[in-house]
Amino acid sequence: MINSRTVTICTGAGCKGWNAERIAQGLREAGADLGLDELEIRSVPCMKRCGGGVSIQVSACNSLLKFKREEEAVNVLIPEKMIPVPA
Ligand code: FES
Repeated sequence: MINSRTVTICTGAGCKGWNAERIAQGLREAGADLGLDELEIRSVPCMKRCGGGVSIQVSACNSLLKFKREEEAVNVLIPEKMIPVPA
């Protein structure tokens, strides 16, 4: 079941090269640290958007995002960090 706090991360061969497994684990740890009890991190095979980083989709926005670093990927758990702030 997909809920509003579902993060889908590709752990296919292409994304594995960008440390997808480590990023998935980092998301789980960050979710626990933030107290996101309903957070579900789903690992899936290739999402057909290979290259340029790990493919991650957040159920709240449905956009497919690419991340190269764990420190950046954990921001998907904090919506305020994903919304550009007008200058
Ligand atoms: S391996 Fe991740 S999108 Fe193809």
